[in-house]
Amino acid sequence: MAITAKHGVFHIETANTLYQMKVDDFGVLNHLWYGGKTDCVMDYLLDYPDVGFSGNIYEAENRRTYSLDTLPLEYASGGVGDFRVPAISVTHENGSCALDLRFQEYHILKGKYRIPGLPAVYAADDKAETLEIVLKDTATDVRVILKYGVLEEEDVITRSVVVQNQGKTPVILNRVHSLCMDIPYGEWEWIHFHGRHTKERQTERAALVHGIQESSSGRGMSSHQQNPTVLLCEKGASEKFGFCVGAALMYSGGFQTQIERDQLDQVRLVMGIQPDTFAWHLEGGDSFYAPEVILSCSEKGFAELSHRFHHVIRNNVCRGKYKLSERPVLINNWEATYFDFNDTKIEEIAKQASELGIDMMVLDDGWFGKRDSDISGLGDWVVNEKKLQGGLNKLIGRINGLGMKFGIWMEPEMVSEDSELFRTHPEWAIRIPGRNPMRSRYQLALDMANPQVIEYIYQVISKILRENNIEYVKWDVNRSICDWYTPTLPEKRQLELPHRYILGLYALLERLTGEFSDVLFEGCCGGGGRFDAGMLYYCPQIWCSDDTDAHERTVIQYGTSFFYPISTVGSHVSAVPNHQTGRVTSIRTRGTVAMAGSFGYELDLNKLNEEEKKEVTEQVKTYKKYQKLIYNGLYYRLCEPGRDSLSAWEFVAEDGSEALVQGVVYRAEPNALRKRIRLTGLLENEKYRVEGEEEIYSGTALMTGGILLPEIKGDDVSVQIHLKRLSTL
Ligand code: DGJ
Repeated sequence: MAITAKHGVFHIETANTLYQMKVDDFGVLNHLWYGGKTDCVMDYLLDYPDVGFSGNIYEAENRRTYSLDTLPLEYASGGVGDFRVPAISVTHENGSCALDLRFQEYHILKGKYRIPGLPAVYAADDKAETLEIVLKDTATDVRVILKYGVLEEEDVITRSVVVQNQGKTPVILNRVHSLCMDIPYGEWEWIHFHGRHTKERQTERAALVHGIQESSSGRGMSSHQQNPTVLLCEKGASEKFGFCVGAALMYSGGFQTQIERDQLDQVRLVMGIQPDTFAWHLEGGDSFYAPEVILSCSEKGFAELSHRFHHVIRNNVCRGKYKLSERPVLINNWEATYFDFNDTKIEEIAKQASELGIDMMVLDDGWFGKRDSDISGLGDWVVNEKKLQGGLNKLIGRINGLGMKFGIWMEPEMVSEDSELFRTHPEWAIRIPGRNPMRSRYQLALDMANPQVIEYIYQVISKILRENNIEYVKWDVNRSICDWYTPTLPEKRQLELPHRYILGLYALLERLTGEFSDVLFEGCCGGGGRFDAGMLYYCPQIWCSDDTDAHERTVIQYGTSFFYPISTVGSHVSAVPNHQTGRVTSIRTRGTVAMAGSFGYELDLNKLNEEEKKEVTEQVKTYKKYQKLIYNGLYYRLCEPGRDSLSAWEFVAEDGSEALVQGVVYRAEPNALRKRIRLTGLLENEKYRVEGEEEIYSGTALMTGGILLPEIKGDDVSVQIHLKRLSTL
């Protein structure tokens, strides 16, 4: 049993971690512990200082040391004397905002709970358990059910929250965070992933300051600017050492992560739906379901924590035919042609690609409606016969004739004002009556809370997928959303729209991915603006960034790798000079970097010289040879790109039988020693041989002394070293 409850103490044990909570004398649920295993109840660490201006609950009478403002709480509510950031805040019908949550009951259930309408980690019933702890407001009939899903072997605990209004009058939910975690002791740092379009998931680490630090998105999507993942670690923790906790919100809409270091140096982490663009009217008898947070921790640094997230996301979040299988190597025409193509051009690219061993041709933006630039056409998902004579079927037939699969781009959630769809249904676009809407990339967002919109998109896409042999869909979205208003909701409920938009999106994706389960859906949001565990439930890979520059990508992919498995990272070789940065890197470097992901090409292969084409053929073979190791191996970050003069990473087979080291040395220097990197994850007492070399190294030597990289001439030169354990050669 992973979950036990004794004398008001709840223990959640996974293979290597322990989570503890306790109901105290006043029915308040205290958080006791999350970390390595211990053999006792950790309530001896609770302290009750007498802190001025931290008041006491009424029942505590003259115990002026009992304060909700100083205790580590499991789920903090607003308005009743805990002045730190709350996990939940509500407004009752009489205008008051207090919620005083006390323990009511608990249930331990077999299997992992599901969340209606939202993605959630799944597991076989004998591989997971659920703990439900029911809290109730002292003065109203509002109940909060805390849900804990426990995947013992994975060292993963998921958290979610259900708010039930069992009263007769409505309650407004102003904030319902999915995670609240108090950590009373220690010196902590946080790592989060910020950025912008073409510069996603830049890693930032900082000591916690007193007060609130926040990473959030109010853009209607998880966003390029911040990612809904966060890492809290002990000061000085590194890849291999130190305690760290990671949390990933399984949600694709606006989110908020707040960390407060309070007056006593205690830390509170809350995470959930972004509250500024959220308010939910919960009628009597109704329930609200918050999205899930995936939680894990490690005593041994970031690498182990990443392995746990990679494993659970790959096995228990991603779904469908491609979740664990190898993926086709693709050629995408976007950076090759942009909007300027016709069937002949696409066929020529595909022909060359097939000769080089590439498996799938992906036709990007511009194949439909009046879409010769990004100013028009979105919403009209009818083939543009001026560009593709004879329609999609004819083109696909020719591509299939080359022995290649065919994939297609769509941006279903959006509409151009210059489109038949907008002319017919202007009321389907999100905008506020009486105001001009903000345009972004000239487009407006469709009202995904409107069932008619969802049905329309479903009909259009399913028809295309039924009538054509399409084996991949790139599901793009290219603007942040504001001007929230929908005619489908009464005025007082308008702030439900941002969340209802995501619920509509998820319902649509669930229907389509279920019906077309053989199709590989790739998520995309102007690159990686919606790279989150929610989207990965429907799309086992996501286009990582619109920045295809190999140098920049080492940094973006480094940040992405803290939580997301390598198989989920869409990554392509593009042309030089690179279209985003103007940088020129070799085809080899571009190939090596793109291989650390779901691999493909995005350039006109006909423009390559013979030597480069030979290199592409070799790259495709190499990728296919190592794809299993890249997807299933344990991934290690060997360098920190922002700090070191190179970037390097390593995939190690779980049984230690082989490893693939890849990297990029950023700058060549004259009269310098060769670069050395220390490997990790190998078997200490085994011998390894580098492919193509005679020399034999011991695992211990490779992990302590390291290995010298070849001499580097030029900037951004890639390295790739494959090692095999001797006994397996
Ligand atoms: C943004 C995507 O990230 C690109 O790869 C490309 O598909 C364009 N949209 C097309 O408009």
